[in-house]
Amino acid sequence: MPHETAESLRQLIRSRVRGHKFIAVSNREPYMNVWRDGKLEWVRPASGLVVALDPVMRASRGLWVARGGGSADIAASDKHGLVDVPPDDPTYKLKRVELTEEQEENYYYGFANSALWPLCHVAYRSPVFREEHWQAYKEVNEKFAESIAEEIGNDQALVFIQDYHFGLLPRFLRRLCPQAVIAHFWHIPWPNPEVFRICPWKQDLLRGMLGNDLLGFHIRYYGSNFIATVDRELEARIDREQAAIIYRRHMTKIRAFPISIDFDAVAREAASETTEQRMETIRKQYGIEEDMIVGVGADRIDYTKGLPERIEAVDRFLDRYPEYRGRFVFFQAGVPSRTHVEAYRRLNELLDETVERVNAKYSTEHWRPIIFVREHLPLSELLAWYRLARFAMVTSLHDGMNLVAKEFVASRVDGQGVLLLSRFTGVARQFHGDAVLINPYATDEVATAMHRAILMDPDEVRRRMCKMRDQVRENNVYKWAADIVRKLAKFV
Ligand code: G6P
Repeated sequence: MPHETAESLRQLIRSRVRGHKFIAVSNREPYMNVWRDGKLEWVRPASGLVVALDPVMRASRGLWVARGGGSADIAASDKHGLVDVPPDDPTYKLKRVELTEEQEENYYYGFANSALWPLCHVAYRSPVFREEHWQAYKEVNEKFAESIAEEIGNDQALVFIQDYHFGLLPRFLRRLCPQAVIAHFWHIPWPNPEVFRICPWKQDLLRGMLGNDLLGFHIRYYGSNFIATVDRELEARIDREQAAIIYRRHMTKIRAFPISIDFDAVAREAASETTEQRMETIRKQYGIEEDMIVGVGADRIDYTKGLPERIEAVDRFLDRYPEYRGRFVFFQAGVPSRTHVEAYRRLNELLDETVERVNAKYSTEHWRPIIFVREHLPLSELLAWYRLARFAMVTSLHDGMNLVAKEFVASRVDGQGVLLLSRFTGVARQFHGDAVLINPYATDEVATAMHRAILMDPDEVRRRMCKMRDQVRENNVYKWAADIVRKLAKFV
């Protein structure tokens, strides 16, 4: 069966949602403008959500509403906050909503990232609940609702809201634009009712989310957790047959849509001459000989990603299998993220200490086991590393989906490479049997898995990798979006 493409998605949107405005909403914008040495520059933020939604927006030619976070965002947009993107090939519009510093502090760093993020990811960090964070969260959700309503006017519209920054937006928006069809995709896990019940504003949040017509999660498990939470906290009717919740006469359907990447685009870039040249440059720059074994990891520096745990596993591996000392390097790319939040600052320190300690323990005059680059590397550079690697490590303590795993798989046009994958990621449900599943908390188990990856028979490596590639090729990001659009079209 031919797989979904940008073109097939475009046609689908054109035919199914004709006469409707297509509006996506997220906190993070896909393209940021910053001042650098007095010049205006474009930057692409590191976010799985942005990676996934950008191709969809290119296909839909719609409008994306997001917080303007770059220092030159306002200067680069018109008086309504509008700007054409992507910069090299303008196909859709971006509307930037300007927040005050205080709003950003309390809504984004506060409620979204100090309360909801740890609450939904069971990674053993206590959520911080503060009244002023919650007030700003409400304020910003309302502000977005007004900004979107301004664009909709009396027209028909499909609004596609992204993520945990906007739990209250669906209800606010429904009040302003009752004719709009509203869908929301929650990009992070949803915990079980036992975990969620500690949130002081849990009922308001749930009511907000039940303003949606359609509410999507990566996997069914999160959706079931959500239904169980509502069942526990609100007087709502649960229609299990239809996986729907009826609250105050409004029905919200709960569905699973596993997010993905643009497989063909990543594979094409990974196979390009530029990537191959990059591989050569990397080899020279870091002194990586042909017979050297490379392991690779790439993440936002976030405590959910299990980064210190991963470095501990490298330590355990070198300790238990000394024959690999001098013959193995582990490359870790880390993108700094949310460093205003105390828990992230502490994580960065811990990560530096751990890397330094392990490097000091094993380094020789000509070799150092861990290369840690704290930088947002361009995709082409990452792809070159992925292709050089014998294995990639995804050790998230909890992760909604994890698109790095899918990018790694898409990059292996040679059918080689082993994926060591945490069981606690959404993607583990799609790759089980083909990735080597690990428990990132169990250091010995991870070290053994690294050894197993290195010794795995090349035919088996190929068989597993080919199956994962088929999986992602077929279930690419266009399929994710097309499934959502098809579902949404039923409400039109
Ligand atoms: C996760 C979230 C996204 C977020 C991304 C990057 O993938 O689900 O909503 O955009 O992390 O985080 P940031 O806070 O930098 O946007």
